[in-house]
Amino acid sequence: MSRIGTVGIVGAGQMGGGIAHVSALAGYDVLVYDISSDRIEKGLATISGNLARQVSSGKLDEQVRKEALSRISGAQSMSDLAAADLVIEAATEDETVKRKIYAELCPQLNPAAILATNTSSISITRLAAQTDRPERFIGIHFMNPVPVMKLVELVRGIATDDQTFETAKAYVNALEKTITVSEDFPAFIVNRILLPMINEAIYTLYEGVGSVEAIDTAMRLGANHPMGPLQLADFIGLDTCLSIMQVLHDGLSDSKYRPCPLLVKYVEAGWLGRKAGRGFYDYRGEHPVPTR
Ligand code: CAA
Repeated sequence: MSRIGTVGIVGAGQMGGGIAHVSALAGYDVLVYDISSDRIEKGLATISGNLARQVSSGKLDEQVRKEALSRISGAQSMSDLAAADLVIEAATEDETVKRKIYAELCPQLNPAAILATNTSSISITRLAAQTDRPERFIGIHFMNPVPVMKLVELVRGIATDDQTFETAKAYVNALEKTITVSEDFPAFIVNRILLPMINEAIYTLYEGVGSVEAIDTAMRLGANHPMGPLQLADFIGLDTCLSIMQVLHDGLSDSKYRPCPLLVKYVEAGWLGRKAGRGFYDYRGEHPVPTR
């Protein structure tokens, strides 16, 4: 097993920021890279806010917060990630974007570094084949919100070697998360089950079986889910939900995975959920208001 001292993260959005947050709390030095310094600054501000939230709720000591924050810095360019022993790509769920990142990133990395992806659905074997290190490539899939959710899925590609797998396991254990190992099939375990449920909730809305509120209340109180499926879809991001359904539909060639046309329409409108201010709910006022 290799020792991980510094973790590099590509993508300062909600997933990348969350991974930086928990890595720093576990004592790793963290470098966060994104395509603009604005995005990095915004990402670091969110991490700082979330750490402060944990102090206010008594989950974290003020000194621990300060130390964790001091371990996280922004990477000015991808070449700064040469210092990392493990780099986790947490970019948009779009294979073309990920391929471009690997093409630029790989030549800059330490040859011994492990490259991981936080993809929520795309084939690890296929992504690994786009890199210069398929043996040292692995899927480390975190759940949102990362500081709260206890599970991490580990997914080996066909070429991932044992040392990479053991090192990734040790890293996730150090974060005090529970590991579940999934074979490399479309959307792995969590999203293979969760996303068809969300897609079915959108069909339920599309067919007029219930309103946004009725569907979410039904699943919150009738199945004890912490969030209703439409609220959860907004939380994940409707673009991500659509990408995952497309991966399931294409990868398994089964019509039961066809994305609901209403989901497609929301994404086309740019109503991508919470991050866009509007999805199945409108978040621009004081309280979320259903948009249908
Ligand atoms: N960072 C740090 N702490 C956070 C946080 C964040 N980003 N978000 C929430 N919290 C903390 C809050 O501070 C709060 O802590 P205390 O209990 O100590 O006060 C606690 O979490 C609960 O938060 P809230 O009181 O704000 O709200 P809540 O009780 O409604 O819980 C939730 C929020 C944890 C998100 C809960 O609604 C939930 O579990 N929802 C389901 C989330 C889920 O299913 N995630 C998986 C999505 S699928 C996925 O991620 C895979 C994929 O690839 C798409």
